[in-house]
Formats: sequence, C-alpha cells, structure tokens
Amino acid sequence: MKDPHPHHQLATRAIHAGKVKDQNFATSSPGIQPSVTYLLPPDLGFGQGKDSGDATNETPWIYQRWDSPNAHQLETRVAALEGAEAAVSFGSGMAAATGLMLHKLSAGDHLLIADTCYVGVAEFVRKKLPALGIDVTLVDTSDLNAVVAGMTPRTKLVWIETPTNPTLRLADIAAIAEIAHAGGAMLAVDSTFATPVGTRPLHLGADFVMHSLTKYLCGHGDAMGGIIAGRQADIAALREDSLIHSGAVISPFNAWLISRGIETLPIRMAQHARNALAVATFLEQHPKVTRVIYPGLASFPQRELAQRQMSNMSGMLTFAVSDGPALAHRMAQRFKVFHYAVSLGHSRSLVVYVPTAGIQQGSFQHQGAALAGYRQWAGEGIFRTSIGLEDADDLIADLAQVLD
Ligand SMILES: Cc1ncc(COP(=O)(O)O)c(C=O)c1O
Repeated sequence: MKDPHPHHQLATRAIHAGKVKDQNFATSSPGIQPSVTYLLPPDLGFGQGKDSGDATNETPWIYQRWDSPNAHQLETRVAALEGAEAAVSFGSGMAAATGLMLHKLSAGDHLLIADTCYVGVAEFVRKKLPALGIDVTLVDTSDLNAVVAGMTPRTKLVWIETPTNPTLRLADIAAIAEIAHAGGAMLAVDSTFATPVGTRPLHLGADFVMHSLTKYLCGHGDAMGGIIAGRQADIAALREDSLIHSGAVISPFNAWLISRGIETLPIRMAQHARNALAVATFLEQHPKVTRVIYPGLASFPQRELAQRQMSNMSGMLTFAVSDGPALAHRMAQRFKVFHYAVSLGHSRSLVVYVPTAGIQQGSFQHQGAALAGYRQWAGEGIFRTSIGLEDADDLIADLAQVLD
C-alpha cells in the first residue's frame, strides 16, 4: 500500500498529520467545527461533494454525516500513523467493526474469524450474521493450520484481533494475510490493543486495520470512536455503504478530542509499556498470583511472535489467582489508585475480572478443543488489566494491598 506521508516519522505524524486549515485565523492548534451543513458553491452537482468516492482536500464540505473537518483530520492522522492511503471514522469501535463486516459480506459469503475476540464483535458475529445468510467459522488464529483448514471457496473476509481481548493471544498477521489472499479473501485486523505504535498491520499485508478509538488513541477515557484504514478505493466504498447510509458518524467534538489524544500516543505508549512491564514483573513474583500473561515478559507463550510483530508491547496484561471472585470483591472495595471498571487504554489504570464460565455462556460459547484452548490462556478466570500512566510504584503498592 502506498504511504502518502513518506517523509515524517511516527511522533511527527501524530502531531502534524491532517490539520485542516482554518479559513479565518492562522491557528496553530486545530479548532472544532460543529456545523452540520455548509454553504454550497452554485455549480456543485449532486455527488460531487465530500460524499463522492474521489473527494480531495479541495472538495467542498456538504453535510456532517458525509464528512466534516474534524472527522477528516482524525481520519488523515490515523491513516498517516498506519501508513494507509485513507481511513473512515465511526461513532464507536463496534460501529466500525460491524460496518466493515456488513459492507464486505452478503448472503452466501463466509467469514473466518478468531474464536476469541472482543465480546461485542463475537456476539454480533454469532447472533446476527447467520440470520443474514452469512456463514461463520471460528478458529484459533494462533494456529496457522487451523486458519488454512477454516478457509472455504466462499470466504470473503478473515477477521483477526491481535493481541486479543481478553486473553492477549497473538495472531501472525503476515502469515494470515498470505493464507487469506491465496484463498481470495481480504484480511481485517482489529489492532486496538497493539496501536500503530506497536504494530502496522497494513505493512504486514492486511487489507484493513480497525481501531476502537475509544481506547489508546483517545487515551483519556472521555470520547468514543472507531476507525477503519486501508486502500483509497476500499475506504471510499466503505464510507458510502457503511457510514453515510448507516449514519454511525462520529461527532466533531469526539473527533477533535481523539485527534488531540493521538498527539501524545507515541510517548504514552512508551510509558504504558514501561509501567506494564514493571507491574507484570511484580505480579509474576507474588506468591498469590498463579499466572501472568504480558507480551513483554520472557515467559509469554508467543514470545518470538511478540518480538517480531510488536515494537511496543502495550499496556495490557492479564493475571490469575486461585480465588478470582474474592479478589475482585476486594479490588472494588479497597483500590486507592486503580479503578475496578471495564474499558482500557486510558490514562487511569483499569482492572476487571473476566470469569471463564460467565464469558463462555454469554459471549464465546466455545466447545471441546476451543474451550480447552481458551482455558489454557485464562484458566477459571483472568483479571484483564489496563496499566495506565500513574507511577508504577503506586500501582504496585495498590495491587499489593489488595492481594495480601
Ligand atoms: C479489541 C476491541 N475491539 C473493539 C471494541 C469495541 O469498541 P467500542 O467500545 O469503541 O465500540 C473494543 C471495546 O472494548 C475492544 O476492546
């Protein structure tokens, strides 16, 4: 894929890519433009504005659901970070994921998807797609033979998430891109946990990369969004089919907040990873902790792949103890720094207990070998932990006082 920003490195792109020129003031920082509609030039025909597939920077804005200056800046910035030709933003990560699936898949098509991924995506795929006549196969995407075996002549899309939520299992993007393409399918990667600081899926051969912007890219836990980046023509078709028609558009304010968050993404990710390694090392030595999974630890089961595919190990780790529910209870009552709450990628550290029985019943419904595979990573339950930007010593002290 051609990189439209070949001259700058990541931190510079995060700050400068995509700024839309202010017509009235020579502002240094980007502004917020909330207008829903725009004054049109008299000779503009229908389908010649920002809704058209070949819109450029000079194409006039028309209506906020089609494109807006703040969404445009966000899209250009994320595309620059991913080395993508284009990107399209949505009102949430789920809107982006379901928008891409419904755009690419029709009745009679087949989707090959990781058997463990974000629960919202897993539930949508299991509950909604079969009703639309779309066949779904769930595979352990850390096993390349299983991916090959899961492909059918009708497979249109392969969907992987790496590291996966909640177990942190990795998938080999370059190898799976080859398998998907050999079978005539496209590969989409949910890279929310890795961020473009850690992994660039399009460089490894993927056709689409997806992010829940709500997480690390925003970084502060105060705005929701989602995005898909890829080739110009693919993104233009996706914008028309799944954004303009479904209407799942991001608000200008959220797009502005997330663009602002992205400016510090590279330095935040470096600190998330440093803190996560310190906490993971502490937990690994704690007598009450039975297992720690963090891609930055030497004990990580897919250490070679982590080192090859992730240049930043991110701030997500999981750990287990013998009585998870009791510890979850103590955490919710006694934490002084951590928040016992869902979500991830925020400046604040967040932990939540994910019991295997509960998530199997409600979201994954693995059977047989797949269930055994899930238990290999998660046992009876894991604490999904998003290590924030506080001082590592304070995080360790907070965990120590609930573990003891
Ligand atoms: C890996 C992953 N993908 C997608 C989503 C969905 O994102 P959102 O909550 O922004 O809809 C999440 C949310 O937790 C996630 O963790």
